[in-house]
Amino acid sequence: MAEPVTLHDALLGWYRAAHRDLPWRRTTDPYAILVSEVMLQQTQVSRVLTRYDAWLERWPGEAELAVARRSDVLAAWVGLGYNSRALRLQQACKIIARDGWPPDAAGLQRLPGIGPYTAAAVASFAFGQQIAAVDTNVRRVAERLGRGVPHELCPEGRAADWNQAMMELGATVCRAREARCGACPVASLCASRGRVALSPRAPAGTRERFEDSNRWVRGRVIAALSAGEGLPQVAPERLEPALAGLARDGLIVRDTAGARLA
Ligand code: ADE
Repeated sequence: MAEPVTLHDALLGWYRAAHRDLPWRRTTDPYAILVSEVMLQQTQVSRVLTRYDAWLERWPGEAELAVARRSDVLAAWVGLGYNSRALRLQQACKIIARDGWPPDAAGLQRLPGIGPYTAAAVASFAFGQQIAAVDTNVRRVAERLGRGVPHELCPEGRAADWNQAMMELGATVCRAREARCGACPVASLCASRGRVALSPRAPAGTRERFEDSNRWVRGRVIAALSAGEGLPQVAPERLEPALAGLARDGLIVRDTAGARLA
């Protein structure tokens, strides 16, 4: 009789055969991986792909980003949302350019803007550290599988591929609102196969469009100020809360002309 397939073999085999070819999966350069992971915090892969290569061409390493103009960094981030992530990435690169790369996730986590997930992702992908990278997607997949917490599931010596595979499964198959159990390579090993509780989705029409969000106005403000255009043409009742928030976050300074980059 054939050996039963293990969870590790099934998921890693599927990942090898079926994963999306994403540029940050073709490198072990810690800077290139850090940039991707910070961009991917709260921003979709498709949107990150529109900026990633150009960013690396302009600032190919931490030393280049460390000395970049703050307004250039903010301008290049427009469209990715949450501008403070760009500034923290630059702060982290200033520290790395001065002190070198921390050797592991614990050291990475002491840098600005790098939480436990990002630290573990960079440490496993770039440094080969044996550590599980656990974001909300990975946590959800592990919970549904019902075979232990993510850190226990991570196979010895395979953390980098395993982390990518868990993320890939969560992003393309075992999704929050749609568990595609019929397409899942580990369905036969899964505790909740076919009976996953899906979180309700707001009905169509009540979901906010990106263009209607405060984040969109914030992006427009930063883009316009970076380009030296003054404030953008946005209705005052939408502009004012965006300006107040950006000032509170230290990204702009209010002045007599309206605002300027901090
Ligand atoms: N989201 C966060 N990190 C990711 C990665 N390395 N690949 C794809 N999606 C991700």
